[in-house]
Amino acid sequence: QGGKLWGGRFVGDTDPVMEKFNASIAFDQRMWDADIRGSKAYVRALEKAKLVTTDEMTRILQGMDQLSEEWSKGIFVIQPGDEDIHTANERRLKELIGEAAGKLHTGRSRNDQVVTDMRLWMRDAISTVTENALQLISTMVERAAAEIDVLFPGYTHMQRAQPIRWSHWILRLFFQQQTYSFDAISLNSMDATGQRDFVVEFLFWASLCLTHLSKMAEDLMLYSTKEFSFITLSDAYSTGSSLMPQKKNADSLELIRSKAGRVFGRCAGFMMTLKGLPSSYNKDLQEDKEAMFDCYDTVHAVLQVTSGVMSTLKINQSVMEAALSPDMLATDLAYYLVRKGVPFREAHGISGKAVFTAESKNITLNQLTVEDLSAISPLFGSDVSSVWNYRSSVEQYSAPGGTAKSSVTAQVEHLRNWLKKQ
Ligand code: ARG
Repeated sequence: QGGKLWGGRFVGDTDPVMEKFNASIAFDQRMWDADIRGSKAYVRALEKAKLVTTDEMTRILQGMDQLSEEWSKGIFVIQPGDEDIHTANERRLKELIGEAAGKLHTGRSRNDQVVTDMRLWMRDAISTVTENALQLISTMVERAAAEIDVLFPGYTHMQRAQPIRWSHWILRLFFQQQTYSFDAISLNSMDATGQRDFVVEFLFWASLCLTHLSKMAEDLMLYSTKEFSFITLSDAYSTGSSLMPQKKNADSLELIRSKAGRVFGRCAGFMMTLKGLPSSYNKDLQEDKEAMFDCYDTVHAVLQVTSGVMSTLKINQSVMEAALSPDMLATDLAYYLVRKGVPFREAHGISGKAVFTAESKNITLNQLTVEDLSAISPLFGSDVSSVWNYRSSVEQYSAPGGTAKSSVTAQVEHLRNWLKKQ
């Protein structure tokens, strides 16, 4: 074990299964750049503290640059004893610059290094997924602006509720991140090396973000069925069946939906790893990396695919608007009575009776004559015909958050301004 960073007090070899079990190089090599950046900053601090000479610092920095080149060209050769990225880089540095490499680790532990690397790596990762998220939001906002005049059914409990704007559905999504925090040093070394809240927050953010996208995918899958036919997914984001020639499956949406489970599983799994750990660094924490990398890769892919799906799907406006039906104006019928002074609760009951009457006569709600309606309430007059208009129904909700064109335009404007500030 003499060759190991920690081999001095050991006798005999590590069991080969243990060696493999213990190593993290297979996955933590992804942090090679962060590891080098961290070490470069560290050696400058060592020089300031007069623990390395200026000449040694220069040699270490030059060696680090050469390491960087080897990694980026893909010619860095991982050796069997390279337990993790920190070990691998130090081993190679020594080969390149000799004994001075041994001074780099003065006063630090891999426990400091690993957390520094992860925070640096995560900053880049968060910038990338933030870009992806902004791209998706921008795609959706512009789509909402372009198709603001399209109406279609709103649903609650999967039942037809009230007419809404398609854009109103698009704009429900809005997310933010706050995990990008490595602006200062930690004031407590045990906390710095022993806690992984920043990883958990990233995993949680990824879980919440993908949960929203999973719900959206579910809506879109339903809307893309032949039965609904509200939207047509682009062939670029669909797949076929090896047996049934007619099939066009929404695999992109199903995979988007599935990834929320995978990412949340990573989040829950890592939380279980943390639970019950004693303070400070424990090797259990090595589990953080596969969770972080997997969630990053997954969110990165999902955001890109979702942007692709959202920018290429076609909406079938005539089908969407034809799916509206007069019963969805039953609330408006109640409001008609409210405007005549009837308390809403009573108006709701009267409108419900009108729905029942139309159903028993096997006609639509707007086909009830004024006579039919006045048999239910004398307050109904010929002006009731004004109720049967989907567009004015949608327009009446002009408060913030409503479905009126002005309200949905305000949402679009708000998001466009927000995007500009990012
Ligand atoms: N590979 C380790 C990890 O990922 C680095 C820290 C090792 N520290 C130690 N005391 N064994 O956590």
